[in-house]
Amino acid sequence: MVAEREQDILSSRIPIIDVSNPDQGLVARAVVKASEEWGVFQLVNHGIPTELIQRLQNVGRRFFELSETEKKAVAKPDNSREGYARRYTLDLEKKIGTVDQLYHNIWPPSVVNHSYWPKNPQDYREVNEEYTRQVKILSEKIMEWLSEGLGLRREAINEVVGGEYLLNVNYYPPCPHPDLIEGLDAHTDVSGLTLLLTNEIPGLQVFKDDQWIEVEYIPFAVIVNISDQILRVSNGKYKSVLHKTTVDKERTRMSWAVLVRPTSDMVVGPFPELIGDDPPKFKSMLYKDYIYRKVRNLPFVDLDS
Ligand code: OGA
Ligand code: NI
Repeated sequence: MVAEREQDILSSRIPIIDVSNPDQGLVARAVVKASEEWGVFQLVNHGIPTELIQRLQNVGRRFFELSETEKKAVAKPDNSREGYARRYTLDLEKKIGTVDQLYHNIWPPSVVNHSYWPKNPQDYREVNEEYTRQVKILSEKIMEWLSEGLGLRREAINEVVGGEYLLNVNYYPPCPHPDLIEGLDAHTDVSGLTLLLTNEIPGLQVFKDDQWIEVEYIPFAVIVNISDQILRVSNGKYKSVLHKTTVDKERTRMSWAVLVRPTSDMVVGPFPELIGDDPPKFKSMLYKDYIYRKVRNLPFVDLDS
């Protein structure tokens, strides 16, 4: 069948899935397969308007091009995760490059604090609110496909994992030593699901079958990472993809990551329906306890059976 072949996954290439395919069952199966085998895929024709993506990237870039003083209008306070801050500072010994970050909640309205949203550019808020609406529709669709792929009700994953949405804009300025350092070192995302846009500068790499594979830049595609909480609720059926970023010698790289995650008091663990005779692969725990351990690099092995 031609359509089957179109959705075929080449083993050396991150799966690219056309969401507009009229056979939505085929799209769902491709998403499930990619999540099982890779934990990452690219969605094209995903329904988020191209023009909106252009505007989102435009207001983000314009914010980062403001003077440091102007950007500090939304500076991250020490006691908050939200706001603008330097995420990493160039350190050749540690092989870390400079990464600046703008981070703020986008949904639900009860967790949105507009004092961390840039006022300049003026249309920042309107554009980000519209992007939030659109990205949420797409992420809920993905979670439905993934739930059905586990043989569960289509709301199942969203009910556990889809409580909050955050936007994390990364800004990687040019680096004179791109061969010596990395942007972000190898990690899996702590959230449930990450929906990522990048500018045209390549730099994202994912780990599969003992090698790092460069994610090809496709204009307006949404890169979807399966992250830790979907790995856990699926009892390991879906992979949480290990990834890292590189920097460019001359050009600034930017990315927009929407993190879809459980609320901090949500208990996250494998769905009971997925547990057969073997013990579950992961222990259920509050999302906030999971984050506590992950950011401190505490082992999970004593917890996960
Ligand atoms: C992240 C991340 C990827 C990128 O922020 O966790 O992996 O392409 N970003 O910047
Ligand atoms: Ni990441």
